[in-house]
Formats: sequence, structure tokens, C-alpha cells
Amino acid sequence: MTQSPEIRVFDDLEHLSWAAATHFEQLARIKTTEKKPFCVALSGGSTPKLLYELLGSPTFAGRVRWSNVHLFQVDERCVPPDDPQSNYRMIRQALLASALLPEENFHRMAAERPEREQSAREYAEELGRILRPAPGECPCLDLVFLGMGPDGHTASLFPGSQALEERSAWVAPNFAPGLKSFRLTLTLPVLNAAAHVIFLVAGADKAETLRQVLEGPEGQFPAQLIKPTLGKVSWFLDKSAAKQLKGSA
Ligand code: 6PG
Repeated sequence: MTQSPEIRVFDDLEHLSWAAATHFEQLARIKTTEKKPFCVALSGGSTPKLLYELLGSPTFAGRVRWSNVHLFQVDERCVPPDDPQSNYRMIRQALLASALLPEENFHRMAAERPEREQSAREYAEELGRILRPAPGECPCLDLVFLGMGPDGHTASLFPGSQALEERSAWVAPNFAPGLKSFRLTLTLPVLNAAAHVIFLVAGADKAETLRQVLEGPEGQFPAQLIKPTLGKVSWFLDKSAAKQLKGSA
């Protein structure tokens, strides 16, 4: 039985990002104590950038045992890694450039390659190599940071797109109808096998969709399909995004 989502509303993106960074640090500490790797998947877009900068900052550099952390990508645009549209480029500039993460512990999605199916398969193999799920099981990420678009998409799972129907592959190429471009994305089976999913959502332009996603009928938006089987979902929202939710000031 899936847990009901935790909803936390913060004054602004800065407070939201600090709370997310602190949560990352706490989970990383638990995994270190358990002598297990801490495996996290990072989304692209603009909202998580401040979080990544915080994790890469001196404040968190000393608080996290980075040698025990493995970072994966939730999704990637099919552009070269130095393209301004590249999620990897954003993550590299915001976090990797300063964090003490061993280079081999960042698992980049090679989405620039024309053989997208092959890239998806190889990334699934990489997930399997590090997370080592039991035969027939999905890899269980410890933490996944997701965003949400004004259309209710999350990862690169867009409304009406093919990869939303994927029930076996862990990673899939996906055509984004509204953007007329391809992406590589983790699929619902992997996202719903995670131990903890945190949505980071900020800005008034998402308030109406967020109201429908959290308080409206089920099954309308891709973001509503994130229901980890054994895991937990949290929504970290800023006041602008949360302003149409029931009970919001
Ligand atoms: C991407 C993302 C995507 C993102 C949303 C929200 O590659 O764009 O992974 O799912 O999280 O589009 O984007 P913003 O944070 O920029 O609003």
C-alpha cells in the first residue's frame, strides 16, 4: 500500500533547497553508517540548480562522505554534454566542479549518441552494476529528486508520451511532443522502486497544475504516477507553487 505523500511548503526556493540538501546529507550519513553506497538520481531543469550548488559548496563538502555516494541522472536531453541544454552540464557546473565526488561515481546518461535505444540499455546496465537488484527486481535508488513541468510532466515522462507506458525497461528514449525533441529518461518501474522520491516544485506558474496533481482526480498527469511501491514521496514546495492548495495561506 503506497504511503500518502508528505507535503512541505517553504517560504522560497532557497529555504526549499536547504531542506533538500540537509535531507540528502542525513540520508548519506545513514548509508555511511550502514556501510552501504548512497545512490541518488538527479533531475535536470532549473529548480534543483540551487540544491546542487549547495551540495557542491564548502558547507556540505565536509558533511557528506562523497566517496560513498553514486549520482545518476533521472533524464537527459539528446544533446552533447557541453550543450547549454544539457542536464549533465548544469549538474557539472553546479555540483561536480566543486564536490569531492570521485569522477567514476557520477553516472552520466550518454544521450547525445544517435543510437538512443543502445544508450538506454547501457544506462540500465550501469544502474544494475551499481545497485545490484535481485534477479527480476528493479534497482532501488535511495533518493530521487524530481521536478514537475506546468504540463504535469516529471523526469522526461510527458503527457501522452510513449515511455509513460513502459513497464519493463528501466531507461527509455522518449519523444517530447511539445518540445519536438528526444530525451532519455528513467521509467516508472525504476522511479516507483525508489526508497524516497522528493519533488522540488517552485513558482506560481505551476500552482494550478500542482493543485490538480495533489488534490484532483487520479491519473491525469505523469507526476501522479509516481507512487513508490515501498518508498516515500515528499513534495518540497515554495509558497508560490503551493498557493492554490487547500489550507495554503
Ligand atoms: C528536465 C527535467 C524535467 C524538469 C521539469 C521542471 O530535463 O527538464 O528533468 O523533468 O524537472 O521540466 O523543470 P524546471 O525545474 O526547470 O521548472
